[in-house]
Amino acid sequence: MEVKNKRVILTGAAGGMGRILAAALHAKGAKLALVDANADALHQVAAQLEGSYPVAGDLSSAEGCRIVAEECSELLGGIDLLINLAGINSFSAYEDENPDKLELMMRVNLLAPMWLARAILPSLLEQNSGRIVNVGSIFGSIGFAYFTAYSTTKFGLRGFSEALRRELADTNIKVTYIAPRAVKTPMNNDVIMQMGEATNMNMDAPEDVVKKIIAAINNDRKDIYFGFPEALFVRINVLFPRLVDKALAAQNRIARKFAKNK
Ligand SMILES: NC(=O)c1ccc[n+]([C@@H]2O[C@H](COP(=O)([O-])OP(=O)(O)OC[C@H]3O[C@@H](n4cnc5c(N)ncnc54)[C@H](OP(=O)(O)O)[C@@H]3O)[C@@H](O)[C@H]2O)c1
Repeated sequence: MEVKNKRVILTGAAGGMGRILAAALHAKGAKLALVDANADALHQVAAQLEGSYPVAGDLSSAEGCRIVAEECSELLGGIDLLINLAGINSFSAYEDENPDKLELMMRVNLLAPMWLARAILPSLLEQNSGRIVNVGSIFGSIGFAYFTAYSTTKFGLRGFSEALRRELADTNIKVTYIAPRAVKTPMNNDVIMQMGEATNMNMDAPEDVVKKIIAAINNDRKDIYFGFPEALFVRINVLFPRLVDKALAAQNRIARKFAKNK
């Protein structure tokens, strides 16, 4: 799908990747409704992108998502492309996770994309065109220690993307699932960065990831996993999960020290 002149909802538009993706989509001629909970940052992003609409909103409830979808659709005169990018993470030993944070992560990372897709699908079906892009993670295919809750939400998002893609196979509505590996954005706090360094975790620049997201949309990709060897590990994990258990064991022991000493 060429993004030029397409009516696009981008969630998480004020975040580390979101603001770069918003600018890249704008440069390519997309019509943008930019959504984020951080209203101040969102308005700053939108102010730089002439003609884009900032839609400040909290996506952690079904009603919040319904209102956001309706407002974006009214502002743009319909929707061609929904990019579910907003997300939150947590780096923690699972026994230390806050139950409320667990629920919030499920809401923002998994349910919000589902609620937004549900809200716009009737209009996409009516026009028989459109695309839903769900930004997951390599952790949505490889369950990652101390990101257990986050991995769980992204596994769900991958499953949702696959099932919905199959459900829509006889229509002209496409679903793309995108799985970056770690990216240098504010999502990764100092402790995660230190853990990443200690475990030699590969981290991409957000500009590079954004280029690949645009290419995936342009090339009508069904799914895409970024980075070597991570993308290969995703395949190996399906066939030989015990090998991956072993390969990650030493790294997990190092990560535990950071997760417990936050
Ligand atoms: N960074 C990575 O290493 C990495 C790797 C793989 C995949 N990803 C995925 O890529 C996506 C973007 O990540 P990022 O690194 O750009 O993260 P980020 O810099 O933290 O940006 C995320 C944005 O989402 C917004 N958001 C959070 N909760 C929201 C809610 N309830 N309603 C509306 N907006 C909300 C945040 O607003 P606030 O600032 O107000 O919370 C923030 O502006 C996420 O889905 C993430 O899981 C990231």
